[in-house]
Amino acid sequence: MKFFIDTANLKEIDEARSLGMLDGVTTNPSLMSKESVSNQKEIQKHYISICERLKNNENLSAEVINTNYIDMIQEGEKLALLHPRIVVKIPMTKNGIKAIKYFSNKKIKTNCTLIFSIGQAILAAKAGAYYVSPFLGRLDDLSYNGLNLIQEIKNVYENYHFDTKILAASIRHPLHIIECSKIGVHAITSPISVIYSLFYHPLTDIGLEKFIKDFQKKIR
Ligand code: E4P
Repeated sequence: MKFFIDTANLKEIDEARSLGMLDGVTTNPSLMSKESVSNQKEIQKHYISICERLKNNENLSAEVINTNYIDMIQEGEKLALLHPRIVVKIPMTKNGIKAIKYFSNKKIKTNCTLIFSIGQAILAAKAGAYYVSPFLGRLDDLSYNGLNLIQEIKNVYENYHFDTKILAASIRHPLHIIECSKIGVHAITSPISVIYSLFYHPLTDIGLEKFIKDFQKKIR
């Protein structure tokens, strides 16, 4: 199971790397807006800095801002040319699906984002998306079961041997990651805080304290 970090923040990416928990990075326009980038040049520089932190088989999903087909294609091509580790992230719209098909014909990897239904996931796979990103937390927020959607996408993709990989997104808590691992998604993308919350168990802390105390009682 791949652990991607959902951030555009270089410090968080370095932190995830130092934990040994970094297989890739996903960004989106909202995450980019939190960083100190205010023009195209700075945005490009920032994406390159992220890519330089990645290893060969890892990648960065960088999202297009344009929504009409021609502009999406042009923006996506520029992103893909920026660095070989960039996967072009494209929203689930009619123009987006056309753009995914275009990029798939050109062997440029795409991540179809904002997936909220099985129908959308089917369209993305048929267009040749490399990843689909179903948004778990945002569905849960509206009382829909995000995990059910992910299981259904997995079943349908297996039925038809689609190559598109499931990248579970909008992860809000550790159980999302655990349940996704049981379903068998290819990857999750999560804020670093949720990855940290996987570490904690009170019995680990109590157990470690006792081991150290017992040892120190006898051995000095
Ligand atoms: C996915 O690629 C998105 O960047 C992300 O997971 C959205 O998460 P949010 O719902 O917490 O904003």
